[in-house]
Amino acid sequence: MSLDQSEVTTRGASAGTAVPAPSAAPATRSWPGGTRQLRYGGDYNPEQWPRHVWLEDIALMQQAGINLVSIGIFSWALLEPRDGEFDFTFLDDILDLLASSGIDVDLGTPTAAPPAWFWAKYPQARPVTRDGVTLGHGSRGMASPSSPDYRRHAVRITGELARRYAGHPALRMWHVHNEYGAPISECYSEQSVLAFRRWLSKRYGSLEALNAAWGTTFWGQRYGAWDEVDAPRLSATVVNPAHRLDFKRFTSDALLECYVLERDVIRQHTPDLPVTTNFMATSCPSLDYWSWAREVDVVANDHYLTAERTDNHVLLALDADFTRSLAGGRPWMLMEHSTSAVNWQPRNIAKRPGEMLRNSLAHVARGADAVMFFQFRASRFGAEKFHSAMVPHQGTDSRIFREVTELGRTLGRASAVRGSTVPARVAILWDTESFWAQDLEWRPSVDLDHRERIEAYYTALWQRNVTVDFAHPEQGLGRYDLVLAPALYAVSPTARLNLESYVAEGGNLVVSFFSGIVDDHDTVPAGGHPGQLRDVLGLTVAEWLPLREHETVTLDDGSTADVWAEDLELHGAQPHTAYRSGPAAGKPAVTVNAYGRGTAWYISTRPAAAALDALLGEALAAAGIPDGPSGHGVEIVSRTADGTAFTFVLNHTDADAPLPVGGTDLVSGATVAAGDPLAAGGSAVVEHRQQTAQ
Ligand code: GLA
Repeated sequence: MSLDQSEVTTRGASAGTAVPAPSAAPATRSWPGGTRQLRYGGDYNPEQWPRHVWLEDIALMQQAGINLVSIGIFSWALLEPRDGEFDFTFLDDILDLLASSGIDVDLGTPTAAPPAWFWAKYPQARPVTRDGVTLGHGSRGMASPSSPDYRRHAVRITGELARRYAGHPALRMWHVHNEYGAPISECYSEQSVLAFRRWLSKRYGSLEALNAAWGTTFWGQRYGAWDEVDAPRLSATVVNPAHRLDFKRFTSDALLECYVLERDVIRQHTPDLPVTTNFMATSCPSLDYWSWAREVDVVANDHYLTAERTDNHVLLALDADFTRSLAGGRPWMLMEHSTSAVNWQPRNIAKRPGEMLRNSLAHVARGADAVMFFQFRASRFGAEKFHSAMVPHQGTDSRIFREVTELGRTLGRASAVRGSTVPARVAILWDTESFWAQDLEWRPSVDLDHRERIEAYYTALWQRNVTVDFAHPEQGLGRYDLVLAPALYAVSPTARLNLESYVAEGGNLVVSFFSGIVDDHDTVPAGGHPGQLRDVLGLTVAEWLPLREHETVTLDDGSTADVWAEDLELHGAQPHTAYRSGPAAGKPAVTVNAYGRGTAWYISTRPAAAALDALLGEALAAAGIPDGPSGHGVEIVSRTADGTAFTFVLNHTDADAPLPVGGTDLVSGATVAAGDPLAAGGSAVVEHRQQTAQ
């Protein structure tokens, strides 16, 4: 997703009441068949090239070990040049060529870019932004997700494709649309408003229930008829937060309906082939992927480094761990990443030698069984001509193409990894609806940032080589020895009971400040904060004490903290650390509560990184979870299957580092021993017997 795109995208969306569960695809459809190899390839856009280049491309794909390409993603105008007139000449040709070359196809449905004739003929389908701007043609992006004209045409072209290519020997799977949620998410068109009212009527059943859920007695917002209910467009001042939250849920649901409509027409023609769409796991603010993951046959994800951040490899790991969690622990596809720089960040930093290999293997380490790129050959024209590719503008006599070919060989050697799983004993709670609610206006401090807290907690565990799953707060947590809630502002009644029973049954829970504050309607429960979590934490907050910008406070262990402090009253919890300075001086800062057979920790401030690391080290020890020495910058994570472990060791530092285990290194092909040096910037995948794994 480009920054441009995210500017156009209005924030929002989700799917009603998430009942998170791993996606439940039947085994026959859960993975593109045809090979036991890891999948390797990328988006391929042959329509941008004359046919003789296709032949060259296919030879290069074979040279690089590519076995899967995604095609047709933006081809609607070519495939349906006029409303209802189809021309599949180009697709027939390229599919036949790929089939005869042994390269499988992940066939795109082109519905992320309707043709010019569609926009001209159906102007009422154009998306409208929150501030009332109607978007036009000329880039890419679907029409209003609730437009009946858009949906009808999207299903028709998809059905035509599915009918035509069912049974084609190249076709292995379906790639519906492209990155739902970007660039179009919230839409304020008249058609969206009508659909929103229908969604609300289904959710609440009556206007009385809606008025109660939204608290419309506040500021006299009561609705007396359904057609008085509008999308939460810009208003004189802050719009009712419960109204906005529901519009975000509606938006995610409306987009998901579009996906399901296409998927279902595909299934009529190719019932045994997997259907998916490419997620942007932690970087799409408008979709509740817990709901989406249940509807895809295999979870597929696009990931691009935040290139400027020097810890971007940690963020990559976070994104990959979240993707694996969406997949219910099953292998997933890295559908897109980049060989080097993208073209849409403020400064498009190029990857250095070895970095693309480390990035690719980091995704595989965390459960990906496919490594795909955007895109195969760099475009000469259009908005993305400065984006890196597998075949760069410089051609094949280039570092990038040599690394692409080497990566193909490495993935070929590492194919035994396919199907293995990634064990994790720690979970971080991730609730998109809570994030939406927290991000609305008029919160107690602009420094309350859920993403920042999650990254901080995740980073502390990454530095200790502790593998983490992400979990929804309503899902079963019993398999985890430690659960972290770094930022869980909104907690539904179901989640509250779930967290209480997790701890009561012996779990270890660590909760950070500004969690459990409201329910799923953004309503404060009766009594003091944190209403939804005060029983399990054994405390209440007498007063929030947000700190000034750059203000720090000292705790009685000598550490410092910033952003936030609280005046806590303990009702059973024991003090662990106290504030020594600042507005809460003398009061507890960190507490521990015995609850049933388990323990709940509460951290009421934002500790400096070293202090947070020490606290999480204590929690890991209390939960009996082994960890590594913190801060050495070498990523170590294992996949396991049938007594075999694959330990991925990725050296992100400038110095050699000792391998933690011996065995066969699938990167070099050599036999290695524990303690052997792994070169600065190097990668190893050590296959060994499982009992020697960490
Ligand atoms: C997204 C899109 C691709 C391409 C890349 C560029 O992931 O899906 O079509 O635009 O971004 O980084």
